[in-house]
Amino acid sequence: MEFYDVVHRRRAVRRYRSDPVPKEALARIFDAANWAPSGMNKQQWEFLVVSGGKLAQMGDSYGKIAEGYTASWDDDKERQRFINFAKSFGGAPMLVVALAPASSNPAMRKMHLESVSAALENLLLAACAEGLGTCWMTGPLNDEPALRRILEVPEEKEFVAVTPLGYPAQEAPPPPRVDPDMSVKVRYLD
Ligand SMILES: Cc1cc2nc3c(=O)[nH]c(=O)nc-3n(C[C@H](O)[C@H](O)[C@H](O)COP(=O)(O)O)c2cc1C
Repeated sequence: MEFYDVVHRRRAVRRYRSDPVPKEALARIFDAANWAPSGMNKQQWEFLVVSGGKLAQMGDSYGKIAEGYTASWDDDKERQRFINFAKSFGGAPMLVVALAPASSNPAMRKMHLESVSAALENLLLAACAEGLGTCWMTGPLNDEPALRRILEVPEEKEFVAVTPLGYPAQEAPPPPRVDPDMSVKVRYLD
């Protein structure tokens, strides 16, 4: 797929087929992540690939978060839809959890988070080029103690985001751009 097509076609996918992701595709996706720029060339990204019982436990954790988050929603059908999505991560066969080194120094922390975010965006775009779906998610991080327990992640690591990974079961429409021609958001100064 041509680069700009990939950029435009990547969507937050919230319904997946259960088909497994081929190992070769996974290797190419992580290779793309590995070629991101990084602060001090530390290449400080780490990824956990989660499936099976651990994925189910993460679904239990995110399901509880979703129940709390939607408690005040009036539309019960919409609420149930969101909770069901959360419990199964949309039926994805696997999740990728992105980790950065933790740092008490705000500048270093920012550098680590940005480096891992760059790698994660590469991963999302590569997955799209492979015909796979993803959804950058920080909602599941709201119960961090549960995630640390389930995934055995020590305090020296910071959670950056989670994405399901799998073949899309649904095409989401592209959300319109706030500033389609970037005439407001880009300013040329000289
Ligand atoms: C930092 C960040 C956090 C996000 N957290 C969530 C999340 O917790 N749950 C979710 O369903 N989507 C989440 N999203 C996905 C956004 O909702 C989605 O990217 C946005 O609506 C635009 O849609 P698109 O990705 O299809 O262009 C997150 C995206 C980003 C970049």
